[in-house]
Amino acid sequence: MIYFDNAATTFCSPTVAEELSCFFKTPHGNPSGAHHLAFRSSVLIKKAREFFSSYFKVKPEQIIFTSSGTEANNLALSGLLQKEVPQKRKIILTTPIEHSSVLRTLEAWGKRGFELQFLKINQEGFVDLQDLVQKLSSSVCLVSIMAVNNEIGTIQPIEKIGCLLRKSGFAIPFHVDAVQAFGKIPLEFESWGIHFLTISSHKIHGPIGAGALIWDGKIALEPLLFGGGQEHGLRSGTESVGMIYGFHLAAKEILQDQKKQYEIVLALRQKFIEGIQTLPFDIKINTPVRVERLASSPYILNLSFRGCESEVLLRMLEEEGIFTSPGASCNAKKRKPSHVLKSIGCSDADIFSALRFSFSPYTQEEDVNEVLRILPSVLKRLQAYQ
Ligand SMILES: Cc1ncc(COP(=O)(O)O)c(C=O)c1O
Repeated sequence: MIYFDNAATTFCSPTVAEELSCFFKTPHGNPSGAHHLAFRSSVLIKKAREFFSSYFKVKPEQIIFTSSGTEANNLALSGLLQKEVPQKRKIILTTPIEHSSVLRTLEAWGKRGFELQFLKINQEGFVDLQDLVQKLSSSVCLVSIMAVNNEIGTIQPIEKIGCLLRKSGFAIPFHVDAVQAFGKIPLEFESWGIHFLTISSHKIHGPIGAGALIWDGKIALEPLLFGGGQEHGLRSGTESVGMIYGFHLAAKEILQDQKKQYEIVLALRQKFIEGIQTLPFDIKINTPVRVERLASSPYILNLSFRGCESEVLLRMLEEEGIFTSPGASCNAKKRKPSHVLKSIGCSDADIFSALRFSFSPYTQEEDVNEVLRILPSVLKRLQAYQ
């Protein structure tokens, strides 16, 4: 099996899986309880919280564990907008290529008195900073921009954007969806002017079922879930102890080697690109892969196999044991054209022939070689049918 769908989800790290297996075999109480089994659980959550707070250089109270990146995005955006009065500040700035958990949430607020404005992006998916500066005003109540795009890998200049927001003097809250960035590329919190940052466990070889919102601790936030007052009153519900603990173990593991892995994956992606460029097929690269190193995350490569329908190509590759995705996995089953590729100006034909290959620290050179070996015959067969 050759797995190139790591942007959709990653396999749980073997060491994390081993630890979790021990965890599930050991009695653990409710972390809010009063006996020693409860204490055992609360210690694990405390450890996880302390790890993330030390990494992001924030206080432990600024880490809010959630069930997913989607929930953390919803909490940041809706938690903030519920406290805003649209009559005073009603403009929300975002990009048209955000993840659906941001876009759908903001669209919902757009129907409740707020005005959603999309920043211009160029053909590589980069935010137009001039457009951003022009749109900043005392009427803007929120800016939400992702760090790494999940379909094409574009890395937004988050530090620069944070600086521009600070310089504007309008005290605009800045939310960053860093689900595809965390563990892969450098990230800072306060020094980059971020007020809310979203991360997710299952994108970094942790278990599915945990995410976190890093919060500046100052901007008023309304909980979405009410109940026992867990997570500093901002996310009620018994903490998913094992998932949170596994999330922190996976984060520890991936961050330890982040720099080295970045270089390895970058070299692998480069080999992949050079390989497909030698193939006698019309393949368009939708990911910005300029010499400039930080243009895109090396973990993502989006390609249009012109003349091929991506869904058929995906199935044919799957038959050969190669797993990919036509783009965001939430759109994959719905056969919806990618809003990201549309926004960067791809033609319909290029959108419906696009496949995303997403890498991980577990991707091997042999995996790349194997795809390059199999692709020509698959493409040839496919073109003969179509
Ligand atoms: C950029 C981005 N944001 C948010 C999410 C949602 O994260 P989760 O799957 O943990 O809900 C994803 C998942 O694909 C993503 O790629």
